[in-house]
Amino acid sequence: MNQAKSAETLYRSKIAGTGSYLPQKLLTNKDLEKMVDTNDEWITERTGISTRHIAAEGELTSDMALEASKIALKRAGLTPTDIEMILVATVSGDQVMPNTACVLQRKLGAKDCMALDISVACTGFVYGISIADQFIKTGHYKNILVVAAESLHHYVDYTDRNTCILFGDAAGACVLTRAQEDEDSKIYSSHLHADGSISDLFVLPAGGAAMPFSQAVLDDKLQYVRMNGREIFKHAVRTMSKACDEALDHNNMKADEVSWIIPHQANIRIIEAVAKHFGAPMEQVVVEIEHMGNTSAATIPVALDKAITDGRIKRGQNILLTAFGAGITSGSVLLRY
Ligand code: ACO
Repeated sequence: MNQAKSAETLYRSKIAGTGSYLPQKLLTNKDLEKMVDTNDEWITERTGISTRHIAAEGELTSDMALEASKIALKRAGLTPTDIEMILVATVSGDQVMPNTACVLQRKLGAKDCMALDISVACTGFVYGISIADQFIKTGHYKNILVVAAESLHHYVDYTDRNTCILFGDAAGACVLTRAQEDEDSKIYSSHLHADGSISDLFVLPAGGAAMPFSQAVLDDKLQYVRMNGREIFKHAVRTMSKACDEALDHNNMKADEVSWIIPHQANIRIIEAVAKHFGAPMEQVVVEIEHMGNTSAATIPVALDKAITDGRIKRGQNILLTAFGAGITSGSVLLRY
């Protein structure tokens, strides 16, 4: 979907503040060696991951979202009551109903506002920024909170070495606001895609209406994620590379005009392949996978926040976000920070 062409552009959006939260508990490759038939060398070489953060018992997805949001709001110089719309990208929310955005609204003490969960797995933050940008561009809202929060460990089978080495828990948040006329920050464009014809590559079979929980479900471990790793790998490289090309083409921009690429952090080899396609050295790619693993929708906002707070990303630079996720969904956001 080419949103930049269809939206009536009255205003520009800017990132006013970011925040992130990683739970304290760590799950290292050495820990996993004791749980399944794997080893640190294999995991590091094949994925680039050495450690993941795991939410504590009773620490909910909304709690992690709250911590990241409080930081983002503070950095934006706003209070919860300034927020006119809350978007939470998650596939591991507190409950099916109510949505996690409403829970976050209550915990934040935000006023009556639109509150919506976005369910597109790892592409959720990119979808969220795109949706928020449309509401700001058209003048509907001035201040929108976009959060991605995941507590994936609940959906991982820690006896399955194919999946349990990959995932971690985290939250990242971003306050998108209407830019002042004298500011040059903007979202140049966003492009969102989905291909449901290959949705079976990464699934959580049970827990929905198609397969409610039962003893048989638990016996067959259908409450945990299942994936075709090799096929996902190929589609990840293809869709994220295509999304990068699409963003540059749409804006008549050359790769060397982009200061930083932030791809979804699923596997270091996927990230390297996307960077190679883009013709970018790895020094130009924000990589945080080693210490957090794949945290689904949260990887991009956490990486964005870390690169902003440690000074890598500076105002005025062009940043390209690109993601893929279960669905299979994919997309990009090209912005000037
Ligand atoms: N430790 C040791 N050996 C392992 C492990 C493990 N944890 N897991 C698999 N192996 C073995 C396999 O059994 C296989 O052995 P065999 O050759 O005797 O059959 C061998 O290692 C190679 O297995 P592959 O599956 O070919 O390994 P590959 O290099 O493809 O790496 C991986 C697997 C890491 C899962 C990779 O395919 C990948 O990252 N894919 C993408 C997965 C992903 O991103 N999932 C999330 C999707 S959702 C999202 O983020 C959008």
